[in-house]
Amino acid sequence: MTTTFSGQLASIRLPTFTVPSLPPSHTRSPQETNRLKERIRRLLQEQNAVLVAHYYTDGDLQDLAEETGGCVADSLEMARFGTEHPASTLVVAGVRFMGETSKILNNEKRVLMPDLAATCSLDEGCPIDLFSRFCDEHPDYTVVVYANTSAEVKARSDWVVTSGIALPIVRHLAERGEKILWAPDQHLGRYVQRMTGVEMLLWPGSCVVHEEFRAEALEQMMQRHPGAAVLVHPESPQTVVDLADVVGSTTALIQAVRDLPNPEFIVATEPGIFNKMKQVAPEKTFFVAPTAGEGATCESCARCAWMAMNSLEKVAEVLESGTNEILVSPQLAAKARVPIQRMLDFAKEMKKKEQTSKKG
Ligand code: 13P
Ligand code: SF4
Repeated sequence: MTTTFSGQLASIRLPTFTVPSLPPSHTRSPQETNRLKERIRRLLQEQNAVLVAHYYTDGDLQDLAEETGGCVADSLEMARFGTEHPASTLVVAGVRFMGETSKILNNEKRVLMPDLAATCSLDEGCPIDLFSRFCDEHPDYTVVVYANTSAEVKARSDWVVTSGIALPIVRHLAERGEKILWAPDQHLGRYVQRMTGVEMLLWPGSCVVHEEFRAEALEQMMQRHPGAAVLVHPESPQTVVDLADVVGSTTALIQAVRDLPNPEFIVATEPGIFNKMKQVAPEKTFFVAPTAGEGATCESCARCAWMAMNSLEKVAEVLESGTNEILVSPQLAAKARVPIQRMLDFAKEMKKKEQTSKKG
């Protein structure tokens, strides 16, 4: 493999993969939805199971997770929640890397997912053989990988990060004088570089959803909504990030909706997040930031087809059949756990310091 650099971006030919089309939205009546939720409630109880959902999944599923004592969260909190909850089965509604992370951290628990085909373009664009060779070619670099990767890639890394904690971890490593190899999301990597001033070697992966947001069309939308705050997930292109009032993880964007006084928000991330945003600020109005197209808001372009594979029907089915179990060998899990645990310990320590400084 030849590796050349344009700036710090590695020129590597990534594998091609197919992005599925969005599944049709359900046609259930509210009564049928309630019956389905009731069935899942009973199954969760019978099987000592808990539902852990990401903010991008179907709104009914997010609501049920919270109503039944589970959680709806970003990928960092989803990982942490499973380790602290006493349930023996975790039903992880999200994409595959989220189920794998739960299994890695809870090898003794059963982890089920509504659909095992729900993957992520970042994970697909960072296969272990290619990645491992790249790391081998740069032995003096500390390998930092985004959580949106396979168990094998995590096992090959020194640190796992999510968008919620990438900045302080990279700052911490740079203070120790470490050179950083970052994978797989180039846009998030570029954002981290700019915010920390730390030059990194970037894997050229990207999120097929966030990459679609367009700066020019966003500017036009901002002119039509001068009172709106612009919230952007850092997996978006730099030109879009540059227009943001707030850049951050899904949790940070929800927090911004709570904190900012604006009556309107233009949001550059997956619109599944609106379920929680509307819950925390029912009086406010939300718009999906425009994706490819002449200033048009094309909602389907901003939807993650893999996240959309999760549904109440599939949650009920996997609980009834016990299928779609995530399996990670204990040896692989032990290796992959090290960099994930490093991140969780770092997050815990950081929270402790924040609390102490608030008290003092
Ligand atoms: P968060 O960690 O911010 O939840 O993001 C996960 C993700 O897949 C964003 O596309
Ligand atoms: Fe992956 Fe992008 Fe979907 Fe998040 S939105 S799961 S990064 S493809």
